[in-house]
Amino acid sequence: MNVEDEDMVNKIVLITGANSGIGKETAIALARKGAHIIMLCRNQEKAEKAMIEIKERANTEHVDLIIADLSDQKAIYSAVAQFKTKYNRLDVLINNAGSILKERQETTEGYEMTFAVNHLGHFLLTLLLLDVLIRSEPSRIINVSSAAHRFGKLDFENINLEGKYSSFRAYSNSKLANVLFTYELARRLEGTRVTVNALHPGVINSNFGRGQFSRFLTPFIATSTLFMIDSEKGAETSVYLASSNEMKEVSGKYFKKKKAVKSSKASYNREDQKKLWQLSLAMVNQHNLLLSNSALLKV
Ligand SMILES: NC(=O)c1ccc[n+]([C@@H]2O[C@H](COP(=O)([O-])OP(=O)(O)OC[C@H]3O[C@@H](n4cnc5c(N)ncnc54)[C@H](OP(=O)(O)O)[C@@H]3O)[C@@H](O)[C@H]2O)c1
Repeated sequence: MNVEDEDMVNKIVLITGANSGIGKETAIALARKGAHIIMLCRNQEKAEKAMIEIKERANTEHVDLIIADLSDQKAIYSAVAQFKTKYNRLDVLINNAGSILKERQETTEGYEMTFAVNHLGHFLLTLLLLDVLIRSEPSRIINVSSAAHRFGKLDFENINLEGKYSSFRAYSNSKLANVLFTYELARRLEGTRVTVNALHPGVINSNFGRGQFSRFLTPFIATSTLFMIDSEKGAETSVYLASSNEMKEVSGKYFKKKKAVKSSKASYNREDQKKLWQLSLAMVNQHNLLLSNSALLKV
């Protein structure tokens, strides 16, 4: 074990999108440090295959799987229920899953898919797990954002980008939402020992965006892969935020290459942080299921 690391042995770590790219490598690195990994993934077959690889490469049996599509709010409730039946603590939550979509798609609730998966699904998952995270303190929440958040511009009157969709606009907005959410949540968690930080992992040659770029951009993307770093390297900042001793009490920051850096000007807008919080609460509340955990937070 690296002396700078927290003792991760038997720490419970839940990672979304742990079957591919950065999430899978984060799972392997933390499992090697002794953590017990719970993969939250949408595709059973892909996830089981990745689980075998994670167990082999980390030489551990402590890897578990919960299936849920983050675009499906009911599936998130069910995943959290499954988690809570089996585990009574959660030391690290890594909101890592994400996608970019060439064509506009909607969830069953009628929400634009990129926003729903990259932000809203993780917003709901995090709130539903807050009681366990608070019970397990010190605990950590890590939101995998992107440098693309710098291009984000949220239109609260048209969060679903009706008539205004482009894949990059939807993606950068969702990644700005990750950072706004991080800052708002960090403030609401003051006084607890639950920390929350966001990060840019680097430009990584993973499965990300495969087949989702227009034919004009495809040759550019193909050439850029030559300059991309691999997923193992792309996992380094997530692993650092999850396990470094230096990060024990750091909250409400945005990281790149394991260093806290400034995020975009728009991400520090307190009004927008609050607006996004309220809007997100309204968007996940529509099943009339009680979000009792939001009562644990400072207003
Ligand atoms: N790659 C980059 O250069 C880069 C740069 C900046 C930020 N990021 C961020 O890094 C994170 C990880 O991306 P990656 O590069 O590792 O990409 P990846 O290899 O495509 O992995 C993305 C993961 O998210 C999962 N996912 C997508 N939609 C989902 C849904 N509706 N429900 C549940 N899981 C879902 C995928 O599941 P399936 O395998 O089933 O599709 C996959 O496990 C993302 O948040 C991305 O925005 C990546």
